[in-house]
Amino acid sequence: MKLRIAVAALALLMGGVMTSFAKGGATMPAKRKILVVYYSKTGNTEKVAKDVAAKLNADIEKITDLTDRSGVMGYLRGGRDAMKKRPTEIGPLQKNPADYDITVIGTPVWGWNMTPAVRAYITKTKGQLKEVAFFTTAGGTKAEKIVPSMEELSGKKAYAWIGFVGGDLKNAKKYDEKVNDFATALAGQGTYLP
Ligand SMILES: Cc1cc2nc3c(=O)[nH]c(=O)nc-3n(C[C@H](O)[C@H](O)[C@H](O)COP(=O)(O)O)c2cc1C
Repeated sequence: MKLRIAVAALALLMGGVMTSFAKGGATMPAKRKILVVYYSKTGNTEKVAKDVAAKLNADIEKITDLTDRSGVMGYLRGGRDAMKKRPTEIGPLQKNPADYDITVIGTPVWGWNMTPAVRAYITKTKGQLKEVAFFTTAGGTKAEKIVPSMEELSGKKAYAWIGFVGGDLKNAKKYDEKVNDFATALAGQGTYLP
Protein backbone atom coordinates (compact mmCIF):
# COMPACT_ATOMS: atom_id res chain seq x y z
CA MET A 1 0.00 0.00 0.00
CA LYS A 2 2.76 2.40 1.03
CA LEU A 3 4.59 1.51 -2.16
CA ARG A 4 1.49 2.31 -4.25
CA ILE A 5 1.14 5.70 -2.59
CA ALA A 6 4.83 6.41 -3.17
CA VAL A 7 4.55 5.42 -6.85
CA ALA A 8 1.43 7.57 -7.30
CA ALA A 9 3.14 10.54 -5.60
CA LEU A 10 6.19 10.11 -7.82
CA ALA A 11 4.02 9.93 -10.95
CA LEU A 12 2.24 13.14 -9.93
CA LEU A 13 5.55 14.84 -9.23
CA MET A 14 7.02 13.73 -12.57
CA GLY A 15 3.86 14.85 -14.38
CA GLY A 16 4.22 18.30 -12.85
CA VAL A 17 7.88 18.56 -13.77
CA MET A 18 7.28 17.38 -17.34
CA THR A 19 4.41 19.81 -17.83
CA SER A 20 6.48 22.76 -16.71
CA PHE A 21 9.35 21.57 -18.89
CA ALA A 22 7.09 21.21 -21.92
CA LYS A 23 5.92 24.77 -21.44
CA GLY A 24 9.53 25.87 -21.63
CA GLY A 25 9.91 27.11 -18.06
CA ALA A 26 11.97 24.71 -16.04
CA THR A 27 15.08 22.76 -16.78
CA MET A 28 14.89 19.00 -16.62
CA PRO A 29 17.90 16.82 -16.11
CA ALA A 30 17.95 14.30 -18.94
CA LYS A 31 17.91 10.62 -18.15
CA ARG A 32 21.00 10.26 -20.25
CA LYS A 33 24.32 12.09 -20.13
CA ILE A 34 24.39 14.67 -22.90
CA LEU A 35 27.20 16.69 -24.45
CA VAL A 36 26.38 19.68 -26.67
CA VAL A 37 29.21 20.50 -29.08
CA TYR A 38 29.14 23.39 -31.51
CA TYR A 39 31.07 25.71 -33.78
CA SER A 40 29.91 29.29 -34.14
CA LYS A 41 31.43 32.27 -35.94
CA THR A 42 28.83 34.96 -35.28
CA GLY A 43 26.92 33.62 -32.26
CA ASN A 44 23.71 32.06 -33.63
CA THR A 45 24.78 28.45 -33.18
CA GLU A 46 26.32 29.32 -29.83
CA LYS A 47 23.00 30.70 -28.61
CA VAL A 48 21.09 27.56 -29.59
CA ALA A 49 23.79 25.33 -28.08
CA LYS A 50 23.75 27.21 -24.79
CA ASP A 51 19.94 27.28 -24.58
CA VAL A 52 19.59 23.55 -25.34
CA ALA A 53 22.39 22.66 -22.91
CA ALA A 54 20.87 24.83 -20.17
CA LYS A 55 17.50 23.09 -20.50
CA LEU A 56 19.12 19.68 -20.14
CA ASN A 57 21.88 20.54 -17.65
CA ALA A 58 24.16 19.15 -20.36
CA ASP A 59 27.89 19.69 -20.69
CA ILE A 60 28.99 21.92 -23.52
CA GLU A 61 32.04 22.22 -25.75
CA LYS A 62 32.87 24.94 -28.26
CA ILE A 63 34.96 23.91 -31.25
CA THR A 64 37.61 26.40 -32.32
CA ASP A 65 38.65 26.71 -35.95
CA LEU A 66 42.39 27.43 -36.13
CA THR A 67 42.04 28.92 -39.63
CA ASP A 68 41.50 32.70 -39.77
CA ARG A 69 37.90 33.18 -40.95
CA SER A 70 37.77 36.95 -40.51
CA GLY A 71 36.97 39.52 -43.18
CA VAL A 72 35.71 39.05 -46.71
CA MET A 73 38.53 36.68 -47.63
CA GLY A 74 37.83 34.61 -44.50
CA TYR A 75 34.16 34.43 -45.50
CA LEU A 76 34.95 33.40 -49.05
CA ARG A 77 37.53 30.82 -48.00
CA GLY A 78 35.13 29.47 -45.38
CA GLY A 79 32.39 28.99 -47.96
CA ARG A 80 34.80 27.39 -50.41
CA ASP A 81 36.30 25.01 -47.81
CA ALA A 82 32.82 23.97 -46.70
CA MET A 83 31.67 23.36 -50.27
CA LYS A 84 34.80 21.35 -51.04
CA LYS A 85 34.11 19.32 -47.90
CA ARG A 86 37.50 20.13 -46.43
CA PRO A 87 37.95 19.72 -42.69
CA THR A 88 40.04 22.35 -40.89
CA GLU A 89 42.49 22.26 -38.00
CA ILE A 90 40.58 22.55 -34.73
CA GLY A 91 41.77 23.43 -31.24
CA PRO A 92 42.18 20.83 -28.48
CA LEU A 93 38.99 19.27 -27.13
CA GLN A 94 38.15 19.24 -23.43
CA LYS A 95 35.43 16.57 -23.43
CA ASN A 96 35.43 12.99 -24.66
CA PRO A 97 32.14 12.07 -26.35
CA ALA A 98 32.70 8.46 -25.25
CA ASP A 99 31.75 9.66 -21.75
CA TYR A 100 28.27 10.71 -22.97
CA ASP A 101 25.18 8.80 -24.07
CA ILE A 102 24.30 11.42 -26.69
CA THR A 103 26.52 14.00 -28.40
CA VAL A 104 24.51 16.87 -29.87
CA ILE A 105 26.48 18.57 -32.65
CA GLY A 106 25.55 22.04 -33.88
CA THR A 107 26.85 23.71 -37.01
CA PRO A 108 26.15 26.86 -38.99
CA VAL A 109 25.49 26.15 -42.67
CA TRP A 110 28.29 27.38 -44.91
CA GLY A 111 28.02 27.02 -48.67
CA TRP A 112 25.10 24.55 -48.27
CA ASN A 113 27.29 22.28 -46.12
CA MET A 114 28.40 21.74 -42.52
CA THR A 115 31.31 23.95 -41.47
CA PRO A 116 34.91 22.74 -41.86
CA ALA A 117 35.28 22.84 -38.04
CA VAL A 118 32.32 20.51 -37.48
CA ARG A 119 33.51 18.27 -40.29
CA ALA A 120 36.87 18.05 -38.49
CA TYR A 121 35.18 17.36 -35.15
CA ILE A 122 33.03 14.51 -36.47
CA THR A 123 35.96 13.01 -38.38
CA LYS A 124 38.15 13.15 -35.28
CA THR A 125 35.63 11.77 -32.79
CA LYS A 126 33.51 9.37 -34.82
CA GLY A 127 35.03 6.38 -33.03
CA GLN A 128 33.99 7.83 -29.66
CA LEU A 129 30.45 8.91 -30.53
CA LYS A 130 27.66 6.80 -29.03
CA GLU A 131 24.33 8.34 -30.09
CA VAL A 132 24.25 11.58 -32.07
CA ALA A 133 21.81 14.43 -32.57
CA PHE A 134 22.32 17.41 -34.85
CA PHE A 135 21.19 20.98 -35.26
CA THR A 136 21.95 23.62 -37.84
CA THR A 137 21.56 27.38 -38.01
CA ALA A 138 21.41 29.16 -41.35
CA GLY A 139 20.11 32.14 -43.26
CA GLY A 140 17.71 29.96 -45.20
CA THR A 141 19.16 26.50 -45.88
CA LYS A 142 17.14 23.81 -44.13
CA ALA A 143 18.63 21.16 -41.85
CA GLU A 144 17.24 18.48 -44.18
CA LYS A 145 19.96 19.44 -46.65
CA ILE A 146 22.79 19.08 -44.13
CA VAL A 147 21.82 16.32 -41.69
CA PRO A 148 22.29 13.40 -44.15
CA SER A 149 25.93 14.36 -44.66
CA MET A 150 26.45 14.58 -40.87
CA GLU A 151 24.88 11.14 -40.49
CA GLU A 152 27.07 9.76 -43.25
CA LEU A 153 30.26 11.23 -41.82
CA SER A 154 29.53 10.07 -38.27
CA GLY A 155 28.26 6.70 -39.46
CA LYS A 156 25.23 7.17 -37.20
CA LYS A 157 21.55 7.90 -37.69
CA ALA A 158 20.51 11.02 -35.78
CA TYR A 159 18.53 10.38 -32.61
CA ALA A 160 16.93 13.79 -33.20
CA TRP A 161 17.72 16.80 -35.37
CA ILE A 162 16.45 20.30 -35.95
CA GLY A 163 17.25 23.38 -38.02
CA PHE A 164 16.99 27.08 -37.25
CA VAL A 165 16.78 29.51 -40.15
CA GLY A 166 16.89 33.31 -40.00
CA GLY A 167 13.19 33.71 -39.23
CA ASP A 168 13.26 31.18 -36.37
CA LEU A 169 16.14 32.97 -34.72
CA LYS A 170 14.34 36.33 -34.81
CA ASN A 171 10.91 35.12 -33.66
CA ALA A 172 11.25 34.58 -29.88
CA LYS A 173 8.10 32.46 -29.55
CA LYS A 174 8.97 30.17 -32.45
CA TYR A 175 12.57 29.97 -31.26
CA ASP A 176 11.57 28.95 -27.72
CA GLU A 177 9.17 26.33 -29.06
CA LYS A 178 11.82 24.79 -31.29
CA VAL A 179 14.49 24.75 -28.57
CA ASN A 180 11.98 23.22 -26.20
CA ASP A 181 10.83 20.51 -28.64
CA PHE A 182 14.41 19.55 -29.39
CA ALA A 183 15.44 19.49 -25.74
CA THR A 184 12.34 17.46 -24.84
CA ALA A 185 13.27 14.83 -27.43
CA LEU A 186 16.85 14.76 -26.19
CA ALA A 187 15.66 14.31 -22.63
CA GLY A 188 13.98 11.13 -23.79
CA GLN A 189 10.44 12.42 -23.48
CA GLY A 190 9.51 12.60 -27.11
CA THR A 191 10.60 11.52 -30.53
CA TYR A 192 11.04 14.85 -32.20
CA LEU A 193 12.13 14.53 -35.79
CA PRO A 194 10.76 17.46 -37.79
C1 LIG B 1 31.04 31.49 -45.08
C2 LIG B 1 29.55 31.50 -44.84
C3 LIG B 1 28.73 30.78 -45.70
C4 LIG B 1 27.34 30.72 -45.50
N1 LIG B 1 26.57 29.95 -46.32
C5 LIG B 1 25.24 29.82 -46.06
C6 LIG B 1 24.42 28.95 -46.85
O1 LIG B 1 24.86 28.24 -47.74
N2 LIG B 1 23.08 28.91 -46.56
C7 LIG B 1 22.52 29.67 -45.57
O2 LIG B 1 21.31 29.59 -45.36
N3 LIG B 1 23.27 30.48 -44.78
C8 LIG B 1 24.62 30.57 -45.00
N4 LIG B 1 25.40 31.37 -44.19
C9 LIG B 1 24.77 32.04 -43.05
C10 LIG B 1 24.97 31.27 -41.75
O3 LIG B 1 24.68 29.89 -41.91
C11 LIG B 1 24.07 31.77 -40.61
O4 LIG B 1 24.20 33.15 -40.44
C12 LIG B 1 24.39 31.03 -39.32
O5 LIG B 1 23.32 31.16 -38.42
C13 LIG B 1 25.66 31.56 -38.67
O6 LIG B 1 25.92 30.85 -37.49
P1 LIG B 1 26.89 31.44 -36.39
O7 LIG B 1 26.32 32.79 -35.98
O8 LIG B 1 26.81 30.45 -35.27
O9 LIG B 1 28.24 31.57 -36.97
C14 LIG B 1 26.77 31.44 -44.39
C15 LIG B 1 27.61 32.18 -43.56
C16 LIG B 1 28.98 32.19 -43.75
C17 LIG B 1 29.86 32.96 -42.80
